[in-house]
Amino acid sequence: MNTTLKEGVDWVGYVDWTVRDFHGYFTNRGSSYNSYLIRDEKVALIDAVKAPYAQVLLDHVSALVPLEKVDYLVINHAEPDHAGSIPAVIQACPGIEIVCDARCRDALDAHFDTTGWTFKIVGSGDSLSLGKRSLSFLETPMVHWPESMFTYCPEEKILFSMDAFGQHYASAHRFDDEEPMDVVMEEAKTYYANIVMLYAKPIARVLGQASELDIDLIAPSHGVIWRSHIDRIKDAYAKWVSHHKEPKVLVIYDTMWQSTEKMAQALVDGALSVPGVNVRLFNVRSSNVTILATEVLDAATVAVGSPTLNQTLMPAMAAVLTYWKGLKPAEKAGFAFGSYGWAQGAARDIEQYLKDIKFDLIREPLQVRFVPKKETLDECREAGKLLAEKALELSS
Ligand code: FEO
Repeated sequence: MNTTLKEGVDWVGYVDWTVRDFHGYFTNRGSSYNSYLIRDEKVALIDAVKAPYAQVLLDHVSALVPLEKVDYLVINHAEPDHAGSIPAVIQACPGIEIVCDARCRDALDAHFDTTGWTFKIVGSGDSLSLGKRSLSFLETPMVHWPESMFTYCPEEKILFSMDAFGQHYASAHRFDDEEPMDVVMEEAKTYYANIVMLYAKPIARVLGQASELDIDLIAPSHGVIWRSHIDRIKDAYAKWVSHHKEPKVLVIYDTMWQSTEKMAQALVDGALSVPGVNVRLFNVRSSNVTILATEVLDAATVAVGSPTLNQTLMPAMAAVLTYWKGLKPAEKAGFAFGSYGWAQGAARDIEQYLKDIKFDLIREPLQVRFVPKKETLDECREAGKLLAEKALELSS
């Protein structure tokens, strides 16, 4: 496996082939925790890995340089998937200095007993000489946590971008052009939707600042390193942060005795009668929150359905909408639908979620008592057309 980015700059991280649950994110293709080693007059390790994989990281480093020769550990992000192995690195590398911003120092103090650790606090515009090479820093708050930071090596034109541009994607190769790009881009989109969709504004600001950098390689903390498709991932991020919408209708539902399912299928039939739209249908219980966050990212219109259970919506749908309420998919239009029996509640509560997420509600909730007959299904087909026409309008 080629792990050399440029002469003297190597990947030394851990490929996590088998992880399938990353704090609730379904990582169907695994992940990687990328660390990088720069060997110059000074030796710098950029980011670490999850705590259980500390020894693998140290083995990778010691294969290239004696551990006592490592001078700096740059911490771009304090989340434990990268910072969890810091204590093991400090123990193995006597004299190592942590390089991070002030917010990161605060976060590390809250995560660890930092007694005896040596820190070099840096901020945007600061530079650290390694000899022939240097590192400069750009604080990137909320991409992904408040203490997040980019590190840039101008002499090698490498941007160490931490979570930004990452993918939960385990692979045998380290570079974008060695892996199937459609899969890599799918995982990059899933990563954006599930990890940083909420932070579109700070990311847009950072993209503006980073656009001034001369870049040969973008080296994120997860997934492949970008070298041949840098414009493609930058263009994708530019679309995502600007809330770009495809002419896409998304219908998601839960069902007990197939009444809400019939309504969902009639909505889809109606939407499909309008040329030029992409229509996607999901039962939330045969999908998952990770997929549905990705699906809503570029949808223009969304219909959300559940039967009433115990005077409210069903729990799997509540999980999806609670997740969306946090991620805040922006500039969507849609409505609620569902069946009920002797008491209503699901459509009302779904609509409240949609209001909280700031959906533009394009019609009142579509409801039926017990089982939809022809006239309700006709109404659903009309509502599906409305979804499609609105999707075309919003995506044009
Ligand atoms: Fe990969 Fe926000 O940590």
